Amino acid sequence: MAMGTETALQFLYGAMPHDFCSQRGISNYASPLGSPLKYRKKHPKNVQFAENLKRTLKKSLKIYALQRGGNPYFGNTTVGRPYFPVCCCKQSERISDIAGNGKNASWFTEIDHKKMNPYMDEAGIQGVLGLEEIRHLKNDKEDSGMGDVTPRNIPHQEREPSTENEAWRLLKESVVYYCESPVGTIAANDPSDASVLNYDQVFIRDFIPSGIAFLLKGEYEIVRNFILHTLQLQSWEKTIDCHSPGQGLMPASFKVRLVPLDGDDSPMEEVLDPDFGESAIGRVAPVDSGLWWIILLRAYGKCSGDLSVQERIDVQTGIKMILRLCLADGFDMFPTLLVTDGSCMMDRRMGIHGHPLEIQALFYSALLCAREMLAPEDGSADLIRALNNRLIALSFHIREYYWVDMRKLNEIYRYKTEEYSYDAINKFNIYPEQVSPWLVEWMPDKGGYFIGNLQPAHMDFRFFSLGNLWSIVSNLATAKQSHAILDLVEAKWSDLVADMPFKICYPALEGQEWSIITGSDPKNTPWSYHNGGSWPTLIWQLTVACIKMNRPEIAARAVEIAEKRIAKDKWPEYYDTRRARFIGKQARFYQTWSIAGYLAAKQLLANPDAAKMFMIEEDAELVNALNNMFGSSPRRKRSKKSFII
Ligand code: GLC
Repeated sequence: MAMGTETALQFLYGAMPHDFCSQRGISNYASPLGSPLKYRKKHPKNVQFAENLKRTLKKSLKIYALQRGGNPYFGNTTVGRPYFPVCCCKQSERISDIAGNGKNASWFTEIDHKKMNPYMDEAGIQGVLGLEEIRHLKNDKEDSGMGDVTPRNIPHQEREPSTENEAWRLLKESVVYYCESPVGTIAANDPSDASVLNYDQVFIRDFIPSGIAFLLKGEYEIVRNFILHTLQLQSWEKTIDCHSPGQGLMPASFKVRLVPLDGDDSPMEEVLDPDFGESAIGRVAPVDSGLWWIILLRAYGKCSGDLSVQERIDVQTGIKMILRLCLADGFDMFPTLLVTDGSCMMDRRMGIHGHPLEIQALFYSALLCAREMLAPEDGSADLIRALNNRLIALSFHIREYYWVDMRKLNEIYRYKTEEYSYDAINKFNIYPEQVSPWLVEWMPDKGGYFIGNLQPAHMDFRFFSLGNLWSIVSNLATAKQSHAILDLVEAKWSDLVADMPFKICYPALEGQEWSIITGSDPKNTPWSYHNGGSWPTLIWQLTVACIKMNRPEIAARAVEIAEKRIAKDKWPEYYDTRRARFIGKQARFYQTWSIAGYLAAKQLLANPDAAKMFMIEEDAELVNALNNMFGSSPRRKRSKKSFII
């Protein structure tokens, strides 16, 4: 598509109500708050026209809801099932219209979803595997030499469904509705908690395990709505003290609010209100949101069989906006994405500014997913070239410089410093004194992991779980490295899993280090919250990683441990202490991603094939380019090659 046309479409899709746009295949909605449009400054005339058009159309499409008392606990957020029983919303009708009449209408029907979903099976919905079953399953598979693991092979066994049933009930109660359509899940749903802060919002990253659980259950609508509504929020103009972050940024969270249409006594209108960090604690930019959004979009297509969402022009534009933001040139010397502290799951100061592993693993994953989903067209050739080059450079950089095991530690221990040359071995001028005593003790003989961050003269040797697990899932780690990470998880079980999986990072910052790095954060005291706390939601990423490496028994063991107490403990957000013995001091109860993470793990263990929705085979071009790069002995010589594929 010519650039001019694309620009025009971008401009229009922000401006037009859904009913109007969908007829042109642009399917998007009017910005419910009438927020300024992206291209306003550049095209004043067009925007004026669009604004007038929007106003006229919006009048006829207004969303009305009866003003009710609202939810006593969640203010104006519509959670569970409507607190606002009447909501005549044209927009949601349109979604149903598309669902009912579009070319992929069948994926909304119970009968057809199984046909369309290559990964689902009855057992995927109902089945629960215990550790023993997983062992049988694995042995059977190895004995028979079969590559295919399907739940049909699993011997039937008495099951105790109560924890799972409760989890499903709670997950469903956490669903947030916008104009009567499900659009996400609330972060925490504890009616007895009076101070909800922003836990009454739909967080993008928190919704991922919910989305996966719903996808695996064949409930696709909520995921589709989530993808399309958050896409719409991406294009809003946002400012923090007169400064606008880059276009393409996805919000950290959003909330469904009720606002009066005209005056105080008038009917209420539902609006989606995003938070891009402008009101978040610490004002942190959610860099991970857009990356997760791309990953979920691909998983949705894989699982539902409905590729029409990723093929939509507005969705393609959304993918490109995220990519452009991430691939934009800056001052960087490294291919890793440079971010501030708190830009991902650890959304407050934890000393992870710079090039944290979690962001790099998600970035790599999102690049691969986008590469697969982007429609080939002349206008995006440069973007695809930049993407390919970045993929190669990024995987080389992480695999080579972030990796530590006994051998590498010994190498660092003997590093020479102040090497001024192209061929320096100690490229980042790391002082060997950084190999601290805990690490010398902790590193197992068998196993290894990616460090948390790499900067000039600084290696953050902490083990960050999400980054390491997602490096396995996304292929950022080689097969050998992936196995070594799981070897380390097994060897360090009592540190990383202990009484509740899974430790967010190891070890905790203590003493002066804690005080300087966290800013004396009372929520992040040693072995609590982000600082060495244990987060049940991480079970699902552990499960995907273990299934990928054909070692599901590791995840099954972790799930069994979680199952012993997670429901009794009221599904807390996180646990404290070295061995995760206490419920987190400030942990929310009924935290949705703890519930959904558990459910997703159970479903995946019951139907390991379903984990394929996250797997991407590296194609021959990519593998060749990587081999060339490693083959050129990069640790010794300066590579003069640049690879363009
Ligand atoms: C906390 C977590 C963050 C999560 C949010 C909502 O701030 O650190 O990752 O998204 O709670 O659950």
